[in-house]
Order: sequence, then structure tokens, then C-alpha cells
Amino acid sequence: MKYIVANWKSNHNVSSANIFFQNLANLQKEKSIKNKIVIAPPFNLLETSQKQIQEKKLPINLALQNLSPFASGSYTGEVGPENIKNQNIQYVILGHSERRKFFNETNQLIAKKIKLALAYNLIPILCLDMPYLEKQASFLKNLDLTKIIIAYEPLEAIGTGANQNSKVTQKKITEIQKFFPKSPILYGGSVKPNNVAEYLEISNGVLVGGASLEAKSWFKIMNS
Ligand code: PGA
Repeated sequence: MKYIVANWKSNHNVSSANIFFQNLANLQKEKSIKNKIVIAPPFNLLETSQKQIQEKKLPINLALQNLSPFASGSYTGEVGPENIKNQNIQYVILGHSERRKFFNETNQLIAKKIKLALAYNLIPILCLDMPYLEKQASFLKNLDLTKIIIAYEPLEAIGTGANQNSKVTQKKITEIQKFFPKSPILYGGSVKPNNVAEYLEISNGVLVGGASLEAKSWFKIMNS
């Protein structure tokens, strides 16, 4: 079993998301598949996505792309774990390089979010900042790392079409395993239908941005 995770980032709206799921349902006749499939839509599309998944009996779980470091309360603009209770959401992507770059998220803040996620039984998918691998791991040292999924995403490969040579990826994964020996490790960065197989061979799954937005390409990737 591999994790195949879609990160929609700030893309799609209610109507385009509904079209995505309709198109995917037309392609996806097999309702039980070997991989664990996760889609992370923007917050406002969680409800329509859940409805579509249930109606069309798609083998897909939902994830958040971010989480407030506070459970709930007076934190304008934030979405905490209390806010998404009973919405059947199982995963949360944390520490994505775009959160670090555009929203100044630090390893310390991300560690706080991971702890809160775990307290609410959400499975964190932690995107590493490789130069700070050791520091990141030290913030998490008392946690049950079997419950955390790690995503390795080389910056130069994200959204560029320049996916990393998988031999290099394999070496990086070995390096990460020293700090996170018990966690599944995913690769992300320009994963496409034509290259996904090489990453699935050397990792526990993939995190996919651009190629997850369109049903036909996502269908091929999730069934790889
Ligand atoms: P990409 O994005 O597949 O478009 O490169 C990956 C990611 O940022 O998670």
C-alpha cells in the first residue's frame, strides 16, 4: 500500500471541484484500490468534496492543507481541529514549503501544529525543510513518529516540471530515515503520470500538486 496524496493548494472552486469528481467517477469504476488515496482541497471545498466522494463512492480520504496552532477560539482567519470535527477528515499537510516561504512558518510553529493534530487524531503529513532536518526531528522527539507521514519535496522540483532524479531521491530518503526511522516517507515535486512509478518503487508514496488538479491525470496517478 502506498500513500498517494493530492495537494490542490489554492486551486479549484465549488463548480470546478464538482466537475473534477464527476470526471473522476466516470473513470474510476474500481471502488476498492490498493493505494491509500488522499486529497487536500482548500478549506472551503471540503464539504462539497466530501459530498461528492460519498455520493460517488470514491475510495478517497480528505486532508487539510494547514491547521491553526489553536484548537478553536478568537484567532481570526484560522481553522483549528475543533472547527472541522465530524467532517471525517483524517489527514493534514503541515509545513509545506509554500507555508514556510509565504507565511513565515517556522519549525517550532509547525511542531506545535503537529502536536495539536495528533491530539485530535489527525495524521500529519509533514513536509520537511531539508537543511533543518535534524532540528525538525528534535522538536518532535517525544512524539509517536509512527503516526507522522513525512514528505520530502526538493524545492527546485516543486511546480517546475523538473522532478528529481530518483537515484538522488533514494539517497535523500535514506538520510531522512536516520531521523524518522518509523515514518512513511513520500516524495513530492513534479510527480506526473509518466514518472510516478519510479518514485513509488523507492518510497512509501507521493505528494502531488499540479498533476492532481485534473481528473484524467489524477486517475492515472492514484491507480499507479
Ligand atoms: P507539484 O507540487 O507536484 O506541482 O510540483 C508538489 C507540492 O508542492 O506538493
